[in-house]
Amino acid sequence: MKYLVIGRAILLCLIFISCNGQINRTSHTDSKIIGGGCDGCELMYIGMPKEIHSVDTSPGWNEKGQKLIVTGTVFQLDGKTPAKDVILYYWQTDNDGYYSPRAGMDEQAKRHGHIRGWVKTDAYGKYTIKTIRPAPYPDDVLPAHIHLSVKEPDIENEYYTDEINFDDDKLLIPHFKKYPQENRGGSGVVKVLLKHSLQTAQHDIVLGLNIPNYPKNRYKKQSGLNINKFRRSKDVYHLQTQGLSLPDNYE
Ligand SMILES: [Fe+2]
Repeated sequence: MKYLVIGRAILLCLIFISCNGQINRTSHTDSKIIGGGCDGCELMYIGMPKEIHSVDTSPGWNEKGQKLIVTGTVFQLDGKTPAKDVILYYWQTDNDGYYSPRAGMDEQAKRHGHIRGWVKTDAYGKYTIKTIRPAPYPDDVLPAHIHLSVKEPDIENEYYTDEINFDDDKLLIPHFKKYPQENRGGSGVVKVLLKHSLQTAQHDIVLGLNIPNYPKNRYKKQSGLNINKFRRSKDVYHLQTQGLSLPDNYE
């Protein structure tokens, strides 16, 4: 029992450390750093493979939990031009709501847990992450989420975008009433679709949107994209590339 209590305390500490960095990122905005600074995003470089693909299967895919496929397109600031070769680093809690490390992990990277990985957008700006639904933190009120850190090929530093949240999460609305979305890169709220036992969600990102210090002169047009608007043809294309059919409740 004693060891159980100690173990739980350590895991809660890991949770606190991991998300504390995220929450505090906006408390001080550096006047020079694109994105205003990001405590923890730099961990994306630890263990980053030399070759990163547009489709990644997370370590959680074969673990206990609801299987989830997140697909999306990354756009330039105009909201229309697909952005290729953009690296997205993701990290999330496990099926019990913990950033659970694995033996042998880098000591620094442990704070992000073992369910972490990378994708690099393809020529069409597309990416796919095969993972499981993260659980909310135990005894917490934060909605479940997947963190994202973005590294563009011609931007010197990485920055974070809105976390991926799920529209069927009962913790979502109470949380956003207290803490409105920043919409960094666009809304992180995704619509969850279910087909048999598989959930899918589309999450598009507009580079630079609501990102402090982002070079505004890169593109003349600002984004007019409705981030959560589903584009049927692209959904169909992307799911089909993964050998999947449209979910039953697809509208
Ligand atoms: Fe978190």
